[in-house]
Amino acid sequence: MIKTKEQIEGIRQAGRINTKVLDYVETHICAGMSTEEIDQMVAKKTKELGGICAPLNYEGFPKSVCTSINDAVCHGIPNPYTILKNGDIINVDCTTIYHGYYADASRTFMIGQVDPIAKRLVEVSKECLDLAVKELKPFSRLRDIGYVIEQHAKKNGFSVVHEIGGHGVGIEFHEDPFIYHYGKKNTGMVLFPGMVFTIEPMINEGSREVYLDASNNWTIYTDDGGRSSQFEYTIAILEDGISILAH
Ligand code: MF3
Ligand code: CO
Ligand code: CO
Repeated sequence: MIKTKEQIEGIRQAGRINTKVLDYVETHICAGMSTEEIDQMVAKKTKELGGICAPLNYEGFPKSVCTSINDAVCHGIPNPYTILKNGDIINVDCTTIYHGYYADASRTFMIGQVDPIAKRLVEVSKECLDLAVKELKPFSRLRDIGYVIEQHAKKNGFSVVHEIGGHGVGIEFHEDPFIYHYGKKNTGMVLFPGMVFTIEPMINEGSREVYLDASNNWTIYTDDGGRSSQFEYTIAILEDGISILAH
């Protein structure tokens, strides 16, 4: 779970490309666009920048990016029939491989005018991640991350998905440890310099309960049909602090 300085620099380079791709999506995404067009944008931009889209063919995933709209929590599959409309929220989750290194990040975008609850949900999900990152330091404990996230979500009347977590990343797409987005403070493993992992809390408008779409075996939806919002960073623990490698 401990990476060398060289490996961390490699992941940082993958992260730079990943961040540029998400920036590109952010400026171009709009109502009327299909999720397939987002997939094409991500594939083209990643290639232009010299990277490879990790999702494509990963454990059979059929597309280059995950696009999850409204009550889709994560792992939405781009397709030509799903068209973004005014008021939607959509998470775009990109993972880039560059010179063998992986970086993983996602953002949730608001399409046109969204209602005030959706706007707050998106804001709070970003705040949850940023608050957790602010608390992170070398030798802090793993479950402190989830504690901060869960407190902030609950304080705002939202819930945290338990079944899916962050993960080690860098040499492979998904590595140990599992990063909980809920839990008790001052518990869990000690976070040592050299660890690289994602934090990617999924925050629900209603209950935290979710189910797997049996028709594709990928997409996770909220049980109650409420919306879900997520942001994800790739983060490195350094000797003297932390570094965000992809956002
Ligand atoms: N990027 C997702 C994550 O944050 C994983 C997507 S797996 C895929 O871990 F196959 F759906 F791309
Ligand atoms: Co991830
Ligand atoms: Co991701």
